This record gives sequence, C-alpha cells and structure tokens, in this order.
Amino acid sequence: MHRVSGVWRSNGHRGLPSCSSFTSFSKHHRHEAPSTLYSYWEKPRSLSLAICTFFSVFVLCLLALPFAVDMPLENPKSGYQALLRTSLRAMPLGETNNALHEEKEVRKSDKEWQLKPDHFTLFKVSSFDTTPFNPLNLTNAIRIYVYDLPPKFNEDWLVDERCSNHLFASEVAIHKILLTSPIRTLDPYEADFFFMPVYVSCKFSPKTGFPWLGHAPKLMQAAVNHVSTKMEFWNRSWGRDHIFVAAHDYGACFHTLETQAIAQGIPQFMRNSLILQTFGVKGFHPCQAAEHIQIPPYISPSVAVSYVKDPLEHQQRDIFAYFRGKMEINPKNVSGLLYSKGIRTVLYKRFSRNKRFVLKRHRVDNSQQEMLRSTFCLCPLGWAPWSPRIVEAVTYGCIPVIIADNISLPYSHTIDWSSISLTVPEHDVPKLDKILIGVAVTNLTAIQRNLWRGENRRALLFTDPLVQGDATWHIFDLLSSTLDRSFANQ
Ligand SMILES: *[C@@H]1O[C@H](CO)[C@@H](O)[C@H](O)[C@H]1NC(C)=O
Ligand SMILES: *[C@@H]1O[C@H](CO)[C@@H](O)[C@H](O)[C@H]1NC(C)=O
Ligand SMILES: *[C@@H]1O[C@H](CO)[C@@H](O)[C@H](O)[C@H]1NC(C)=O
Ligand SMILES: *[C@@H]1O[C@H](CO)[C@@H](O)[C@H](O)[C@H]1NC(C)=O
Ligand SMILES: *[C@@H]1O[C@H](CO)[C@@H](O)[C@H](O)[C@H]1NC(C)=O
Repeated sequence: MHRVSGVWRSNGHRGLPSCSSFTSFSKHHRHEAPSTLYSYWEKPRSLSLAICTFFSVFVLCLLALPFAVDMPLENPKSGYQALLRTSLRAMPLGETNNALHEEKEVRKSDKEWQLKPDHFTLFKVSSFDTTPFNPLNLTNAIRIYVYDLPPKFNEDWLVDERCSNHLFASEVAIHKILLTSPIRTLDPYEADFFFMPVYVSCKFSPKTGFPWLGHAPKLMQAAVNHVSTKMEFWNRSWGRDHIFVAAHDYGACFHTLETQAIAQGIPQFMRNSLILQTFGVKGFHPCQAAEHIQIPPYISPSVAVSYVKDPLEHQQRDIFAYFRGKMEINPKNVSGLLYSKGIRTVLYKRFSRNKRFVLKRHRVDNSQQEMLRSTFCLCPLGWAPWSPRIVEAVTYGCIPVIIADNISLPYSHTIDWSSISLTVPEHDVPKLDKILIGVAVTNLTAIQRNLWRGENRRALLFTDPLVQGDATWHIFDLLSSTLDRSFANQ
C-alpha cells in the first residue's frame, strides 16, 4: 500500500488516482526494477483493472447521487454545494478550473440522461420543475460567478474601517452582497456574468495634496492578468461578460479632474466589459463609453436606519435650505479647473447670510440629523456632477436640489426623479432663493409625498442582505436584461 500512495503523490492528485496513473507507473517501474516490482504489479493486473472499474463506478454514482435523490444542485445551502465550496477554497484557481470542467461534463451527461422518459417513470420524478431558478424575481434568471482573488486586490484594503463605509464603498458592498446572494454560482461554466472584486477607491495617495488614482487601473489590470491566465473565461469573450465596479468620480477614467479623466479615457482592457459606475451624464462622454450601469453613491444603510427613528412625515423641518461641505471662498484654479466650477462659491457668497439658508463649510458627524430637519438639501456638483448628498437627501426625506448640468441619475427607469427632486441649472444658482420659495408655495407637499414613498428610498441603499427593489437588486435586474452578453446563455 505504501507504493500505491506513492503513485498518488507523484502524479499530483489529491483525490483518487486515475486508472492511467496506475498502468503508467507499473510499466515504467517494471523496467527499472523488475525483480522487486514485477510480482507485485504484473500478476494482479486484472485485479487492478477491477479496482479501477470499481472506483469509476463509485465516483460516477457519487456524482449522480444528487440527481437521483432529486436534490437541487443549485441550492447554495445544500450539503453538496457546501462541499463544493469547501473544496473550491482548498484548490488554487487553475485546478478549480479543471475540477469544475470534469464536474460539468458529468453533469451535462446526467442532464441528457434525465430527459429520457423511461427514466422519469423509473425514478418517479413526477414534479420536474422546468422554470428557471429565479429566487430574486429578476426580469430574467441570471447567475453570477465571483472570482476568488488574492486579498491584495480587495480584503487587504479594508484594514481601515472607513473603506467599507465611504461614498465609493459600493465596490465593497456589492461584492459582499453577491457572495451570499442566491444568484451567485460556484460553477463558472453556468455563469452568465463574472464579477471582478477589486477595491480601487478606498485609499488614493494625495500627491501634491490632490487625490490620485493612478494605482487603480494598474490593480484592475493585474486582476485581469490573474484571472485570464488561470482560467479560460476572460479570453473566451475578452471580458464581455465580466463586471467591474468603478465607483470613483469619473468611473473607469480613474482621475478626479474631468479634463484629465477624459484625456486618459477608460483603460483599453476594460472597454469591452460591463462597468458599474456612479458617474453618469446625459449624452456622450468618454468616461461612460463602455457598457455601464449607473449606480447610486454608497451611504451606510445601518447608519441611515439608525437616524430615521420616526416616520419621515413626522419630522419637524425647521431648516428651509441646507448644505454642508467643501466650499472654497477663493477657489483654487487646478489645471485650469475650479472645484464645483465655482458654483459652491457663488452659493456661499450669495446665500450664507440669508436666514432661510444653512450653509456650513465644515464637516460634522451628525449632518444626517440636520438633513432630517431640512426641507431642501442642496446637491451641487463637486469635481464630478454626482454627490452622495443626493442619496442622503432622499433617505432623510429632504428634497434634493440637484445643481449639476446634464447629470444623469441612477435607476431613472424606476425612480421618477422629476417627481421627488428639483433640478436647478448651474446658471440659475444666483436666483436659487426665488426658485425654492416658488416650489414651497406651490407643489411642495406633492413632491414630499412622492419622496417619502418607501420604494424610492429602498432603491438607493445597498442593504445587506439584499431585499427586492434595493440598490443591488436593481443592478442584478438591469444585468438580467443584458443576457445577450452572457456566453453561457448563447
Ligand atoms: C415579482 O415581481 C413582479 C413584478 O414586479 C411582482 O408582480 C411579483 O409580485 C413579484 N413576486 C414576488 C414573489 O415578490
Ligand atoms: C488568455 O490570453 C492571454 C493573452 O493572449 C494569454 O497570456 C493567456 O495565457 C490566455 N489564457 C488562457 C487561460 O489561455
Ligand atoms: C450638456 O450636453 C450638451 C449636449 O450633449 C452639451 O452641448 C453641453 O456642453 C453639456 N453641458 C455640460 C455642462 O456638460
Ligand atoms: C484658470 O487657469 C487657467 C490657466 O491654467 C486660465 O486659463 C483660466 O482663466 C483660469 N480660470 C479662472 C476662473 O481663474
Ligand atoms: C411642481 O411644479 C412645477 C412647475 O409647475 C412642475 O414643473 C413640476 O413638475 C411639479 N412637480 C410635481 C412633483 O408636481
């Protein structure tokens, strides 16, 4: 038996030895040391064949077992899937690929076998469910495979707790939610989409006192190199069914300044893929010139819930118009650009002494409480048009006043933004007081009634675990409408 285990190891198998490894070992070693090995291996050749046959049947039976007992293979909670998950963890990426490929072959043949009518009667499979597995009630059933990348691509960045909670943290939230979601598949051969869990927005080195995202495309590229050399799925469609999150200012352009973001463009290797991004404007823009889904900025759902203690309609709103954030009195001209195009400076100069306006330039920890007390929450552009204030305002029932020309808003196919927010053109900022008073005396209550409806607030939060209609659900639902990109679905 010592010899036998030697064969298993020398062939690098972790499980059962294959029949060919038995015979090749015996042939090889018969020449080297015939006297010692001949009698041991040659005589019981028929015996070794019998053992092989036995093992093959045994393995096939084991693999067919889930079908025979009508155990849903796809249920992540089933013992089978848990087992698969454990063994996947233990295997490096390349071997996972092979193991799953063999697995898939067996399952394919099992499926053909299942469809024969005789077998139906034989095993009394009376209620054979043909409806696609769609536990989240998406427009179409989908499956997503999540790459298991080394921690330097994701987990290592989370040592700073802020990285899971800041405005770009949707890259972390979507990954976490996906891992426990029922549409995650552990079998890449049946996946419609492949999720690349790379966290790039957490820490960016402030070179010359300015946020710098130069590491982001490099880290993304390294992740693509990693998965494309170890598995076949990137190459078979050149990333077409692969998903990235690029939650930073200008999405996958990875620069904070618009002119430089545009000059850089989306890295070539990402242009074929699906990008989940917070950036979005109407019309053409080089930073959205790839298939993309516009997602809301991240705010922590647990923090949000902790502040909304009473129903929104019961809040006393004693602040008319509110803004708190970066506001330069003499804006710095960075490469020919002014922060917020100077809009926040105009706001401050014009309205900081107006009694209806609460405009503060310094951050505080409980700005949520101030939003709960406000009727209008100003959401002027920063470097990019979008702002987490838009999500915060909706969450705290304060009407978002969006000041960012051409901005496109997330999930506008289900959220009727014009009924829950105001959009003020940048050049109208000097008369903002008149505009807001006009709304207050006409249709304020109508807007607030729409705004306070639960489904609008739900759609903008990445709740964990996922609930139908929340921010992550919307991503999955939109993905399920792009099944033409799925290789598995062809
Ligand atoms: C699934 O979605 C449809 C359409 O939105 C809805 O009518 C139905 O009630 C939902 N089903 C469940 C189980 O939530
Ligand atoms: C995918 O393509 C790249 C570049 O063409 C190559 O280096 C890599 O080995 C390929 N991956 C696989 C799994 O064949
Ligand atoms: C808005 O879009 C229009 C048409 O696409 C363009 O001409 C205009 O410059 C854009 N405005 C801004 C502020 O980006
Ligand atoms: C900012 O600087 C650029 C040159 O870098 C200049 O052309 C532009 O007029 C300046 N803008 C303002 C508002 O000062
Ligand atoms: C409020 O009134 C304005 C001006 O009449 C109109 O454009 C807007 O659609 C109204 N909004 C709602 C939610 O009724």
